Amino acid sequence: MAKKTRKRWIEVTFVTKEGDRKTIRVPVGMSMLEAAHENDIELEGACEGSLACSTCHVIVKDEKFYRMLKEPSDEENDMLDLAFGLTETSRLGCQVIAKPELNGMELALPAATRNFAVDGHVPKPH
Ligand code: FES
Repeated sequence: MAKKTRKRWIEVTFVTKEGDRKTIRVPVGMSMLEAAHENDIELEGACEGSLACSTCHVIVKDEKFYRMLKEPSDEENDMLDLAFGLTETSRLGCQVIAKPELNGMELALPAATRNFAVDGHVPKPH
């Protein structure tokens, strides 16, 4: 098979809640949510990329990369508003698609993504 020289995948480093770093290869065109799941990275993604949750919240560590991403849609912004620990460079992982320019990007997972944390409700054990 002939090999193309154009990049077909990029390297992305995920930084977990505990501060562990994991660098993975992400094929161009794949979302960060899918890539995380394929590599056993704890990124929830409760709605599987349909912009109905905020559990796939990631923080782009470097503004340079953040600026290279497509602008978030209104739906994404609405969901991000609900995300715990929102930052200036927060995005929803399912909306960030790998492209060659993003090679070397670092994404941090926020400390808590649970939806019930919003109002501080803790389910009681019985
Ligand atoms: Fe639900 Fe990304 S997985 S918005």
